Amino acid sequence: MQIPIARDLAERVAPFSSRTTCQEVFDRFMASGSLLNVPVVNDGRPVGMVSRQDFLLVYVRLYGREIYGRRPISSLMNRYPLVVDASESCEQINTRLFGSGLSSPLQGYIVTDNGTYFGLGAAATLMRVMAGLTERRAQDLERQRQRAEAANQSKTKFLATMSHELRTPLNAIIGFADLIRMELYGEMQPSRYKEYVADIHNSGIHLLGMINELLDMAKIEAGRSELNETEIVVPEIVDEVVRMLRPSITESGLTISTQIAEDLPTLFADEQQIRRILVNLVSNAVKFTPPQGTISVVAEVAGDGGMRIAVHDTGIGIPADKLQKVLEPFEQVENSFTRTRAGTGLGLPLAKAMAEAHDGALCLESEIGMGTTVCVCLPPARLVPPAPDRQITEVA
Ligand SMILES: Nc1ncnc2c1ncn2[C@@H]1O[C@H](COP(=O)(O)OP(=O)(O)O)[C@@H](O)[C@H]1O
Ligand SMILES: [Mg+2]
Repeated sequence: MQIPIARDLAERVAPFSSRTTCQEVFDRFMASGSLLNVPVVNDGRPVGMVSRQDFLLVYVRLYGREIYGRRPISSLMNRYPLVVDASESCEQINTRLFGSGLSSPLQGYIVTDNGTYFGLGAAATLMRVMAGLTERRAQDLERQRQRAEAANQSKTKFLATMSHELRTPLNAIIGFADLIRMELYGEMQPSRYKEYVADIHNSGIHLLGMINELLDMAKIEAGRSELNETEIVVPEIVDEVVRMLRPSITESGLTISTQIAEDLPTLFADEQQIRRILVNLVSNAVKFTPPQGTISVVAEVAGDGGMRIAVHDTGIGIPADKLQKVLEPFEQVENSFTRTRAGTGLGLPLAKAMAEAHDGALCLESEIGMGTTVCVCLPPARLVPPAPDRQITEVA
């Protein structure tokens, strides 16, 4: 985008000299009604400026003509007009002219080329040019936004297609590996193959999990994830998740406890997403807690009347300066735990995005070597009040 400079905006107005008499100046203003400002120039150098308004106010006053008629204009001119170089951009002039916030749209400025008078600039013209520039910028930004959006959409589409293409053969790998592992059609020889086949099966499942996470993240980023909301019973989901992760919890030498408020209301939310949030948080707790540690899952009504679901562990913790970072996609704290345990760095950002999709929030508290608590807070509007007829039946 071409940004106009002082040279483009200047009008070649014939200047006065400082010896021009006030009467001559008056005559020129009278002859040309559109003349708002006239520069005063001696030997090519600007020395002042006469504004029509200021000049006439003095000159047409009682005795003004008698007092000033024969005097040189230098006695009535503004000795400190704004002088800009021809190469200055309209934005620079704008800042200099309106930066102090005092200028009137009738004001003018002098344009010089290497110190020599070149022409006159008008504040009104500058304002018009600036308005046009702002509009063009807004249009440019909008075009860029549309382009970025289109690019993002094609990225999401690409990811969706690719993960579909990857998932189909992967499901075959997982399915057949499982079938062989179970020796459905006869014993495997030599038996070492059993180990390999179990590896194939586990790796396949792991890969599938990663592909699903990537796809979910892409969908959420593109704003294409829709909530499938129903009334859900949080304690049931917590139990389900604990049951599902029990083998890895035991294998890691950890214990897990749940503290669920007795009268916890049902939640109006997307069941799959709430389950995913819990799976992600509990598997992180398992992954980043050394043996003998404990994990607890709490679900309760929070102080603000919303629901608070928290996963606490006694693990390695997250450094304070990384607390924000790990909430961004693909960010992991570099340590022996992340290096040895698989992960893509999408678990927390996904959980956060899902909590936010429910108008909630996810927050992290952690202390190195002490443990981590990840809280998901859902707003009061998501809690389903007990149905009145149910209460009446209970009373009766
Ligand atoms: N409970 C936790 N304790 C310690 N560090 C954690 C915990 N949860 C997450 N982190 C840190 O945050 C990073 C990002 O977590 P996440 O997004 O789930 O990715 P991933 O589990 O794939 O590494 C982890 O790599 C780890 O460094
Ligand atoms: Mg994780």
